[in-house]
Amino acid sequence: MARKKFYVTSPIYYPNDIPHIGHAYTTIAADVLARWNKIKGNNVFFLTGTDEHGKKIENAAKKQNKKTKEFVDSLVPKFEDAWKKLNIDYDRFIRTTDSDHKKIVKKILQKVYDKGDIYPGKYEGFYCTGCEAYYTERDLEDGCCPIHKTKIEKLKEESYFFKLSKYQKKLLELYRKNQNFILPESRAREIVNFVKEGLRDLSISRTNFDWGISLPFDSKHVAYVWFDALLNYYSATKEGGKQKFWPADVHLIGRDILRFHAVIWPAMLMSAGIELPKSIFAHGWWTFDKEKISKSRGRVVNVDELISIAGVDSARYFLFRATPFGQDGDFSEKALVERHNNELADKLGNLVSRVSALVEKNGIVKCQNKLLKKLNIKKIEKLFEDYEFDKALNEIFAFIDVCNEYIQAKKPWETKDKKVLYELADSIKAIGILLYPFIPSTSEKIAKQFGFKIDFKEIKKLLKIKKIKKSEILFKKI
Ligand code: ME8
Ligand code: MG
Repeated sequence: MARKKFYVTSPIYYPNDIPHIGHAYTTIAADVLARWNKIKGNNVFFLTGTDEHGKKIENAAKKQNKKTKEFVDSLVPKFEDAWKKLNIDYDRFIRTTDSDHKKIVKKILQKVYDKGDIYPGKYEGFYCTGCEAYYTERDLEDGCCPIHKTKIEKLKEESYFFKLSKYQKKLLELYRKNQNFILPESRAREIVNFVKEGLRDLSISRTNFDWGISLPFDSKHVAYVWFDALLNYYSATKEGGKQKFWPADVHLIGRDILRFHAVIWPAMLMSAGIELPKSIFAHGWWTFDKEKISKSRGRVVNVDELISIAGVDSARYFLFRATPFGQDGDFSEKALVERHNNELADKLGNLVSRVSALVEKNGIVKCQNKLLKKLNIKKIEKLFEDYEFDKALNEIFAFIDVCNEYIQAKKPWETKDKKVLYELADSIKAIGILLYPFIPSTSEKIAKQFGFKIDFKEIKKLLKIKKIKKSEILFKKI
């Protein structure tokens, strides 16, 4: 049987500074989904990367007196390093300065132009370079960008427009017919209301700077950075035998960029005659001790800081355990340390170390694992499919509690019951496999020690007997 394909993307981030916890969050979420699909036996393609064109990047380079390309070349490794440290197992890191991507952007621009969906005009209005987004007078707060609170520029320049308004009806029909196109549901309602109010055509080119992809039909203009960036998801599938992965199964993004993904992106694809992605999931926003994560106020948790609190796996775990995926969350070091100590060290770590020590001493004898009946695997599968990561972790940890209570009740250190110990070891196999998407290196340690393969199908197969030694401490208490 052919394996099911699964294509997941993270946003491509602006390399104007080093990555922080917000960027890490979406990238880890994509990694969780990618790893989940891998253990289910699916054929996975996981894409991340950087969004390198546009005025925002050009300005950031100027500030450092660097050539723009040199500037982005110096920051891209910071993202690659951060993802490596966080154990992100992506398949491609795309850069919008990659030549294969640029070629596809030009091709699609030409296609949309030939279709009659791009026309020349004059843009007059507001533009926030920090957001790389157009605003109307109504959107502004005291003449400032609603996000950055900075004075906003008024643009007046020649521009080409994309006939976004033409797609209003088709978009509404898409949202209606395909209830999973925008997730979670509350976000879908937001977009439907926005589109119902009417869409204006979108300015898709600029002439007052040139750091970008020039329009194939008018080289004085460079493409609007979002028109270029969104296409990364598609262009990455045009190279190296990846064609079979389009359309994407899910674009994971933060709620800040939902309109670009749920309105502009499908309209671009409709115009170009390309199949649409299956869904877009917009997660919530992290604050830091209840304040906005912001560089200027020194409230940034960069990736190294995040990892230094309690290690990689504890950070990955915390981000999905504490806050339902889709809702806003507040990051605090204290909360992370508490979960590390109380859940990973005291519950999971203790279970693994007690059982492995007892098995080393007493051995095990294969038998049916009655404990496993207390683990609702079907429910956990459904929770993963529905992006309810916090609830999936809840279920898994409830089962860890069951196992810890079972030890207390059966006292295998007195009875030396090899069957009880076998049930516990086999249950640890299930736990190790199910936690793998969140804490992959811990799961790998457990798998090596207990001698099982990290594969979803192994959960229901009885653990093969091999020599088990007392484990090293998985999570040191802080
Ligand atoms: O918008 N909480 O890039 P970007 C949660 N280049 N997530 C956060 C966050 C926070 N406080 N801060 C950032 C861009 N994120 C474009 C994307 S895609 C074709 C182009 C995450 O560097 C979240 O995923 O500003 C958000 O959508 C993304 O970083 C924005 O990253
Ligand atoms: Mg941003």
